Amino acid sequence: MKNTTPVKITDLTLRDGHQSLAATRMRTSDMLPVLEQMDDVGFYALECWGGATFDSCLRFLNEDPWERLRTIRQHVKKTKLMMLLRGQNILGYSHYADDVVREFVFRSVANGIDIIRIFDALNDVRNLETAMKATKEAGAHAQGTFVYTISPYHKDSDFVKLAKDLVSMGADSICIKDMSGLISPYAAYDLVTALKEAVTVPIEIHSHCTSGMASMSILKAIEAGVDIVDTCLAPFAMSSSHTCTESLVDTLTGRERDPHIDVNKLYPISEHFKKARTRIEKEFNLNTNLGIDPQVLSFQIPGGMLSNLRKQLVEQGMADKYEALLKEMPNVRADLGYPPLVTPSSQIVGSMATLNVMFGRYKMIPREVKDIVRGKYGRTPGPISEELKAKILVKGEQPIDHRPADDIAPQMELMKKALADKGYPNASVEDVLSYALFPEVALSFFKNNR
Ligand code: CO
Repeated sequence: MKNTTPVKITDLTLRDGHQSLAATRMRTSDMLPVLEQMDDVGFYALECWGGATFDSCLRFLNEDPWERLRTIRQHVKKTKLMMLLRGQNILGYSHYADDVVREFVFRSVANGIDIIRIFDALNDVRNLETAMKATKEAGAHAQGTFVYTISPYHKDSDFVKLAKDLVSMGADSICIKDMSGLISPYAAYDLVTALKEAVTVPIEIHSHCTSGMASMSILKAIEAGVDIVDTCLAPFAMSSSHTCTESLVDTLTGRERDPHIDVNKLYPISEHFKKARTRIEKEFNLNTNLGIDPQVLSFQIPGGMLSNLRKQLVEQGMADKYEALLKEMPNVRADLGYPPLVTPSSQIVGSMATLNVMFGRYKMIPREVKDIVRGKYGRTPGPISEELKAKILVKGEQPIDHRPADDIAPQMELMKKALADKGYPNASVEDVLSYALFPEVALSFFKNNR
């Protein structure tokens, strides 16, 4: 049945917008003057927390991320607040124990979050289980998310299966997360059509403009009946960020799926963020004019990372190996079972390919690659090459086939005790969680602020 309901819009300016264009350096004070106005627009949700914002608050801005969340909640009373969570990795880069994941989810909801968007870099749904369950128990909306990528193991039918698995785990909605902007307009149309036929929960699409296609893809997704789309206000839109909120509202106004948002309410908010962007550029000496990078479609590795790898080769006097590196990257990805290339798998594949062209194939293997082969990140989409397994696994060793976090003992009490030993015996649960995720930066933040 054709979806003719108004498109709902989630605005990401307060999280992904500045994470994509301004190194996650927006301060709470940059947000405060317009929060009530943003609350008045009629957005479905505001994404304002999680992702890299938590780390950035503590590390660069001398801000308590929990305090930021409470402040936003105080000023945004009608609109849902959304956060991004990396499943069992929470907001960090490795797997945490279930008790840390649960406590983090409960405290996020208690401090003001309504919707938790939960994903895993490998799309191993077992890595979402604990976070999804805790979200439901806390009474919040669990958005089951899969990462979009292109490979022989990522057909529409594979994504539909993921979506069904997530719904059976209790997902209240499904998000297509296309962090590198790989989904083409027609692929978006087909995938949304397939998902709408397979599941009844709302579908949201999140696509970055990195390759230049996202605005077209979003429009085709809307034609195919997607329920919710992700956008950013003009000063934090486009390039490696998202489709512009104002342009999309103008595109849809008066049409079948009119979102019923008054674009005139958006202009003054954007005026404010334009000034905020200039302020951030100045304070942190940043260039926010990043442009687009259609090459990401051939290599699936964002251009910024390619230029870093090239620099590494030049520094080693191996500039002539660059072409070989571009050829090697897809080979390594295939050997590792075609992981979607997002943090951390993009870095792991990139550095493995670089080592291969520098020293010969798999002569030097970093620990992270060994851990993928040993199953410690979870199930890879395709099989891992036998050659690579033979090189890494010792005789008789089998990769683990259970959920990686099953091997991690509870950590909350240990963290609480460790923090007490550092001189904070009465730390709040929130502070213990900050410490569990980012021990060094949290400690130096506490030293300055507690
Ligand atoms: Co994003």
